[in-house]
Amino acid sequence: MTTIQTRTLGTTGPQVSALALGCMGMSALYGDADRAESVATVHAALEAGVTLLDTGDFYGMGHNELLLAEALRTAPAARREQALVSVKFGALRGPDGSWLGIDGRPEAVKNFAAYSLQRLGVDHIDVYRLARLDPAVPIEETVGAIAELVEQGYVRHIGLSEVGADTVRRAAATAPIADLQIEYALITRGIEEKILPAVRELGIGITAYGVLSRGLISGHFTADRQLAEGDFRALSPRFQGENLQHNLRLVEALRKIAEQKGVSVAQTAIAWVLAQGEDIVPLIGARRRDRLTEALGALDVTLDAADLAAIEEAVPADAAAGERYPESQMTHLDSER
Ligand SMILES: NC(=O)c1ccc[n+]([C@@H]2O[C@H](COP(=O)([O-])OP(=O)(O)OC[C@H]3O[C@@H](n4cnc5c(N)ncnc54)[C@H](OP(=O)(O)O)[C@@H]3O)[C@@H](O)[C@H]2O)c1
Repeated sequence: MTTIQTRTLGTTGPQVSALALGCMGMSALYGDADRAESVATVHAALEAGVTLLDTGDFYGMGHNELLLAEALRTAPAARREQALVSVKFGALRGPDGSWLGIDGRPEAVKNFAAYSLQRLGVDHIDVYRLARLDPAVPIEETVGAIAELVEQGYVRHIGLSEVGADTVRRAAATAPIADLQIEYALITRGIEEKILPAVRELGIGITAYGVLSRGLISGHFTADRQLAEGDFRALSPRFQGENLQHNLRLVEALRKIAEQKGVSVAQTAIAWVLAQGEDIVPLIGARRRDRLTEALGALDVTLDAADLAAIEEAVPADAAAGERYPESQMTHLDSER
């Protein structure tokens, strides 16, 4: 196994590879994925030294956990043992894939965990987190239930997802929190004002998702790309009409800088997030080995102050056109309040 740089998730969390693999796209939200290639991508990530794998019990209604279980079962024992699995729970789905709400009640937390442990084929979950705040359940109750699972040995660390600074503080007053999983990218910088200072004050790490803005700023996305039915991007405001044209012009500005440095656009965008602090671990949504290899190359990209200034001049903080989620989903984000 290759060794790669590591980072620690907050003051109480585990040491993990500086880049983590997000497995969502292998089961859901970006159209069909090839199962064999998905498993091969997880194996290649482990072989390259990636130790943190992120999933959600609702990604394909259990599909993603079963896929991860297969990948772990068929990986060499040493690779399997190094893997840490982060699981999100709480999203309620209908048989047709519809989204029915969120459940953060303590008894639901334990129920979700029992099913995840079974599907994943493991005796503990390394980081466990509610995917979205349940407005009907105080965060202290949800986090308290996960803390009980920690005491019982079923969970190692508690995480949070897409919550704002006030909720982070309340959660941290209840039990030690390893990390907050939240969207953060060159064109998605909403956390910088309040959330990032709060987690830093509390010693909580960030696992950043959407680092490539769901492929938009990867350098591979084109305006004529046909999106499959059910692809999140077909509904995402950033991928629509004029917004898309505008956002792809930002990508071309970024490409000029990437070319000067002899690296790819995706590597530049990932390296920018890596450069924002040792407490941030980008979650890379690769579902093919070639994309994974490209993403891991970002670990070798050094951005000095002049590079960072040039990148932020090409893509200013508020430059993106369109919100990061459709309006109906923005309303569920405690982090946007
Ligand atoms: N907590 C939350 O609310 C939340 C929400 C969303 C995601 N997540 C987690 O974060 C992970 C990453 O999120 P994301 O998939 O939205 O982020 P992303 O990394 O911004 O986007 C991934 C998409 O970018 C495209 N891409 C192009 N070049 C790539 C490269 N070199 N490496 C990787 N991807 C490349 C891929 O699309 P093509 O394959 O179509 O080219 C891929 O599906 C997810 O897997 C999930 O575990 C968490």
